[in-house]
Amino acid sequence: MYTLPRIIVALDFDCMKSALAFVDQLSPLQCRLKVGSELFTRGGPELVRRLVDLKFSVFLDLKFYDIPNTVAQACLAAADLGVWMVNVHALGGAAMMSAAKNALQSYGANAPVLIAVTALTSYNEKEWQGLGFKQNLNQSVVQLAQLTQQAGLDGVVCSAQEAAVLRAEFGPSFCLVTPGIRLAGNMHDDQQRVATPEEALAAGSDYLVMGRSITRSPEPEAVLMRLNSVF
Ligand code: C5P
Repeated sequence: MYTLPRIIVALDFDCMKSALAFVDQLSPLQCRLKVGSELFTRGGPELVRRLVDLKFSVFLDLKFYDIPNTVAQACLAAADLGVWMVNVHALGGAAMMSAAKNALQSYGANAPVLIAVTALTSYNEKEWQGLGFKQNLNQSVVQLAQLTQQAGLDGVVCSAQEAAVLRAEFGPSFCLVTPGIRLAGNMHDDQQRVATPEEALAAGSDYLVMGRSITRSPEPEAVLMRLNSVF
């Protein structure tokens, strides 16, 4: 289940100054923003607060993966920053995800949306199998999503290629956030399981995470305007 805007721009910049200069061209009505490990390690909570103060919905994409107590406390710290969405790794297990969910309950209706990463979109089947998993990538993603839903989380990060199956399996209110989005004709870079925005929407994705397709565009606003017109 989504609310507009549905595009989350991944602010993968190497310094706070460039990130803020880029954000200056954007409006919270056009997009949400994602702060990942690179930028957070550079800009820290101060940057996140700045973006929240600018009225952007911020997805703090730090993919927490640790023991239950540590992850629960990290989720509380994220909620204190006023972020809209935060995530953990489903591979951290049911106890860890439940601890995160329970910790956020004190925030009531103001709690950030809590989602879990199933399998990174940069994995391909060979690499996944090489980690020792018996199931194939698609089966593993479904199982990890099931664990996520049972732990009471709001949804998962998944590739658009898995979104249709997850939508059918877990229903309309399970939030699907899909990175690995590329405009037709764009390079795939390090992503393996990619889709166009249209394909991701058709597959049932709620929110599209778009990094380089927008941040490297000479006209990011125009790209956003064009994409928003089809939502
Ligand atoms: O530039 P690009 O559109 O590939 O950026 C994708 C963003 O989504 C990056 O910030 C990356 O860290 C993030 N992400 C991902 N795969 C996941 C979870 C997050 O690519 N499973």
